[in-house]
Amino acid sequence: MNGAGLRWDDDVLDVGCGIGRIARYLCGYLVHGSYEGFDVRADHVTWCQTNITPLFPNFRFKFVPVFNSFYSKDTSLPSAEELEFPYPDDSFDFVFALSLFTHLLPGAAQNYLNQTRRVLRPGGMSFMTWMIFEDDDTSTYDHPKVRNMQRHESGEYAMFRPDRPEAALAYREDVVRDFYSKSGLQIVEPIRAGFRTFQDAVIATK
Ligand SMILES: C[S@@+](CC[C@H](N)C(=O)[O-])C[C@H]1O[C@@H](n2cnc3c(N)ncnc32)[C@H](O)[C@@H]1O
Repeated sequence: MNGAGLRWDDDVLDVGCGIGRIARYLCGYLVHGSYEGFDVRADHVTWCQTNITPLFPNFRFKFVPVFNSFYSKDTSLPSAEELEFPYPDDSFDFVFALSLFTHLLPGAAQNYLNQTRRVLRPGGMSFMTWMIFEDDDTSTYDHPKVRNMQRHESGEYAMFRPDRPEAALAYREDVVRDFYSKSGLQIVEPIRAGFRTFQDAVIATK
């Protein structure tokens, strides 16, 4: 993370913050900054609000109800494709999303990058992980999930469970680059490869 330039006085957003895996490590570091996390799982957010915020009041968490076929299955919930992040423009120096884009379909992924650009200050950074494949034959990949993934008919992404695609998704590299390019975020090269064993890290700036 420090390789991406995170400073102790940064204002940080953690999209899909889960049960505070990232927040826990930042509590002792962001002593002059602030942290906002949001997630579609009320139980995850409540745990963080109960266990982290009382000790670190500059760490705040929001429940944002949005449909996800794996994490929040109520189909009456709003779509992630249309979510406006509940924060003003230009309000963060740094945006994290770890193991989130592995659960977003293309329309949602594009919207979340667009929103990231909106809430980042000029010069702000984002650190996000993806599962990215760069060639057509993923059968040789080390990650057991990848070897068993099924390609969508477009060829642009692959799914671990086609009946519930947001369980785990991998994207073709040019598709990810196109998402970033359309959002206006600039990738800080190279993409840090890791997907053959776990996930790739994409650092990008506004
Ligand atoms: C694999 S977990 C990763 C959690 C955390 N980022 C971490 O690295 O430990 C994925 C998280 O994304 C959340 N999530 C799924 N869809 C989401 C969406 N559309 N918007 C925000 N969070 C979402 C899930 O509820 C879950 O907490």
